[in-house]
Amino acid sequence: MSEKRAAFYALGCKVNQEELGSLKTLFRSAGYRIVDFREPADVYVIHTCTVTHLSDAKSRQAIRRAVRQNPDGVVAVTGCYAQVSPDEVFAIPGVDVVVGTQQRSKLVALVEQVARTREPVNFVQPLGTRPEFEELPAGEGSRVRAFLKIQEGCRQFCSYCIVPMARGHLRSRGLESALQEVERLVASGYREVVLTGVHLGSYGLDLPGDVHLADLIKELVQVDGLIRLRVSSLDPNEFTPALVDVLTSSPVVCPHLHIPLQSGDDQVLRRMRRRYDVGEYRRVVEHLRSRQPDLNITTDIIVGFPGETEEQFANTVALAREVGFGGIHVFKYSPRAGTPAAGFPDQVPHGVKERRSKELIELAGHLAESYANRYLKRVMDVLVEQPAGDMAGYWEGHTANYLRVVFPSAHDCKGQLVPVVLEEVKGGQVLGTPVRSKS
Ligand code: 5AD
Ligand code: SF4
Repeated sequence: MSEKRAAFYALGCKVNQEELGSLKTLFRSAGYRIVDFREPADVYVIHTCTVTHLSDAKSRQAIRRAVRQNPDGVVAVTGCYAQVSPDEVFAIPGVDVVVGTQQRSKLVALVEQVARTREPVNFVQPLGTRPEFEELPAGEGSRVRAFLKIQEGCRQFCSYCIVPMARGHLRSRGLESALQEVERLVASGYREVVLTGVHLGSYGLDLPGDVHLADLIKELVQVDGLIRLRVSSLDPNEFTPALVDVLTSSPVVCPHLHIPLQSGDDQVLRRMRRRYDVGEYRRVVEHLRSRQPDLNITTDIIVGFPGETEEQFANTVALAREVGFGGIHVFKYSPRAGTPAAGFPDQVPHGVKERRSKELIELAGHLAESYANRYLKRVMDVLVEQPAGDMAGYWEGHTANYLRVVFPSAHDCKGQLVPVVLEEVKGGQVLGTPVRSKS
């Protein structure tokens, strides 16, 4: 058997998930068979994250697992942790190739070189030497929902964040090229596209002419056959009138927005160097909801930022309740070397972060449930992604406002838009019954 097997694992955000898809496509085109990460493989690719120290630890764990699984295989490490700490990654026994957040298109060639020579390569280069957007083919995930990265890098420099160091300059995929890629994805069967970016709201700022995210979305919603367009994450200060307009007026754009809050206290927001205050956050949410009442707003919140008092944390909890988030990603603040906040006085003890995180995660669960409860007894269209993991005869997918729905079906309905009556919220998902079609 001469077919080479490659296994993949991504940590971190949606951008990383998207990129992993692209890396798989590169290997598949080079003749590799893609196998599950738990299976023996000739090549393991671990696409890492470094947003917190926990991300670093999980990345190292995944690398060590790959090395254990096949000590003779080639282990390649890519992504943000590799970019920011290349020497630390290269020193892990068994690591053969390290590539950062650029030049990923060279990965297959580097892996094959190492397979021949058995000489490990640290190929990470400083950022800023190559300011162009690296266009890779989109991944081929479930063949229903595709992620498409249209923007890379960030120049916000929030005081806690290492991402600008991991991802470098702001750069965007050209409007025409993004449009063509979406047309290609739809032609090959995808029904939904999720636009991702490291800082999506700054899409176009580096492009010639006056191109903004709103202009791209206006084009994309007209692509024939695209039934859903989802936008992954936007900061509260990025909702221009044109953007609000296209996000809330096109039936193709999903009523689901991820708007990072980080903190519900103005003093903390200032020290985080965020560019909005609580008042602006509230106004944006109210405005969006007045135009789109079904809107599901999800968010990121950091607990235990340096100096965060009990009262300031209580302000965050109160605002989370008031907004009624459909989902919250809770992060315990993690000092990242080289960022301003790592040197701030009054670092919050671990135990306090732990307690605040638990409290907010619990609230997040309740809020998600009450958001989902609003839709019980209603018929919602579910875009079916796959068979439901452990329940034979059941299928799963999402509604446009991102409720995860599981329902019974005797036939394969993957990729179809199935109307389902929502009946019960259970363990983070909604159980339902498909509506019989009249025909
Ligand atoms: N510590 C904890 N969470 C962080 N995030 C970014 N940097 C840090 C950090 N140093 C979180 C933010 C961001 C998400 C991707 O990660 O909430 O929105
Ligand atoms: Fe992690 Fe941020 Fe890199 Fe995404 S961009 S993988 S969240 S460090």
